[in-house]
Amino acid sequence: MFRGRDIVSIKEITPKEMDKIFEVAEEMIPIAQSAERSSLLQGYVLANLFFEPSTRTRLSFESAMSKLGGHVIGFANPSATSLAKGETLADTIRMVDEYSDVIVIRHPYEGSARLAADFAKHPVINAGDGAGQHPTQTLLDLFTVKREFGHIKDLNVGLIGDLKYGRTVHSLTYVLSNLGANLYLISPSLLRMPKHIIRELKTKPLETEKIENVLPELDVLYVTRIQKERFPDPNEYRKVAGIYRITPKLLENAKRHAIVMHPLPRVDEISPEVDATPHARYFLQAFYGVPVRMALLALVLGVI
Ligand code: NCD
Repeated sequence: MFRGRDIVSIKEITPKEMDKIFEVAEEMIPIAQSAERSSLLQGYVLANLFFEPSTRTRLSFESAMSKLGGHVIGFANPSATSLAKGETLADTIRMVDEYSDVIVIRHPYEGSARLAADFAKHPVINAGDGAGQHPTQTLLDLFTVKREFGHIKDLNVGLIGDLKYGRTVHSLTYVLSNLGANLYLISPSLLRMPKHIIRELKTKPLETEKIENVLPELDVLYVTRIQKERFPDPNEYRKVAGIYRITPKLLENAKRHAIVMHPLPRVDEISPEVDATPHARYFLQAFYGVPVRMALLALVLGVI
């Protein structure tokens, strides 16, 4: 059901297919931790094409491929490639497609991963297209919540920060609502979730500017960075920079079992003192990026 498939939008993956990915990811955990060895993807080549900065996504794809015995080619800085000479994305993809078995792409323009998928014969995985989608992040976010609570239905999930430009929350909101979570969208009015995304949700989310209003209700608080690089006007950014800061003091009003997640990188929206509280899950969440991406690679390459 996965062999040869592109992973461009989270909307193309059914809940049943997600369960399959999570089942495989569960088995991948000991390999990700190097407690077991695997050569499942020996002889396969992954092309990692990163046209935008990345730490976790790029390195966790590399780690996932390497720990399964495969190889990785690619770039993290397009200025060192022929793109700097004026090569089109379509030409780059056609050529990379001949050098590899699966392509991972991150690009500043929405729709770029779809374009790449149209030109490549091999599977293309979207690692973030502008403010569009980030489906593999959503898979690891859901994997984290499922491992923690065992279910998504009826959980109260608060998404806070930059809901306008943050692609992680654009992918995540859709699935959470589809799986029956109750959504609380917390942002300044400048950074509200786009209407076209809210319109697609199964149930109406609660929107507020103040975290204090909803924090005691939440099981999950998903914090996001204000996406400075996507603001057309720096003055607008200045108005909202540093607007939220999650601290241990604030979390005193949270449920005891509530967890704090963040796709990372964080700037100042979660104070470092939160790391030592029982609420913090963001580093564990970042680790889950490896087994989840291992599962996805093995599935689209059709080896399991
Ligand atoms: C996110 C991204 O690139 O969208 N990072 C990630 O992939 N973990 C979040 C962000 O940059 O704020």
